[in-house]
Amino acid sequence: MRTLVTGGAGFIGSTLVDRLLAHGDDVTVVDDLSTGSLDNLAAARAVNLDRAGAFRFVRADLTEPGLDGIVAAARPQVVHHLAAQMDVRRSVRDPLFDARTNLLGTVAVLEASARAGVRALTFASSGGTIYGSPAKQPVSERAGLDPLSPYAAAKAAVEPYLKAYAGLYGLRSTVLALGNVYGPRQSPHGEAGVVAIFARRLLAGERTTIFGDGSSVRDYVHVDDVVDAFVLAGGDGDRPPAGAGRRLNVGSGVGTTVREVHRVVAAAAGAPDEPDFAPVRAGELHAITLDVRAARQLGWVPRTGFEAGIAGTVDWVRGRI
Ligand SMILES: NC(=O)c1ccc[n+]([C@@H]2O[C@H](COP(=O)([O-])OP(=O)(O)OC[C@H]3O[C@@H](n4cnc5c(N)ncnc54)[C@H](O)[C@@H]3O)[C@@H](O)[C@H]2O)c1
Repeated sequence: MRTLVTGGAGFIGSTLVDRLLAHGDDVTVVDDLSTGSLDNLAAARAVNLDRAGAFRFVRADLTEPGLDGIVAAARPQVVHHLAAQMDVRRSVRDPLFDARTNLLGTVAVLEASARAGVRALTFASSGGTIYGSPAKQPVSERAGLDPLSPYAAAKAAVEPYLKAYAGLYGLRSTVLALGNVYGPRQSPHGEAGVVAIFARRLLAGERTTIFGDGSSVRDYVHVDDVVDAFVLAGGDGDRPPAGAGRRLNVGSGVGTTVREVHRVVAAAAGAPDEPDFAPVRAGELHAITLDVRAARQLGWVPRTGFEAGIAGTVDWVRGRI
């Protein structure tokens, strides 16, 4: 199958690219390297030694002209759209930049995909932010959207566009509303950045800070499980994917406090579990846990236990300090 991954030089995107190449797909990555890195694509580039032309990297900004030509040349059957600015606090500081990348950039991807006759598209949304701070937890896909930041607003605003493009051009999309994704290659700036930050600081013997009293709850999900969900939602390039037209939560279904994250990371790092505490930062949601039954019903199963996933992540960080 031919697939195109926007944001494929990033944390989640590059992990997806490695998986798609391992499945035998031909993969084109479009990424402007604003936060992503070619280091993340070293294994992908090496695949070309065995399978010439299987992997192609195009450095491009989605919001600049030229995307149509790139997508047309790649002729993908499936597009996985992960490129985004993913820093919630930056979206508050600079909402125009956030909307340009996350909303207009997405419309550009939809338009280019429709023109190139793409059959299926997945969209990386944010289950950790689009539902706001719901009273009922875990939060299911039926809950109303309640974005509390420009980042969440742009992710939510994409959904009606996806419906419009399905109606106009038959482009079948699945929204994956991701929990806080952690794992190797994770950036400290993302929604689950706390895992990367704690791991780096604890391994370096530095002090760590928890903002608030440590009771704030998130749904942490390992990148390998998230990649499983993208592969499932992309389908096989022929039949409509099972989740097409829907939003699916992709998390562990379990809420974990930031205090507990610190304990597990410290244990994996062999460091003392003695964080400092600082006042909670404005705009941070207190608790979110995702109801992931809908994705499970489609055959997706999160496989990575939290402690094992954290241990693997800490090992990865250890190798890079
Ligand atoms: N990491 C998480 O916990 C998490 C949670 C929910 C949703 N998401 C979503 O998943 C997706 C991937 O996130 P990630 O954590 O891998 O982040 P990341 O920053 O590692 O990856 C994003 C990639 O997009 C690229 N990019 C940004 N702007 C671009 C543009 N204008 N044109 C082309 N490329 C551009 C970056 O260079 C980067 O490689 C994002 O859409 C993010 O909003 C992430």
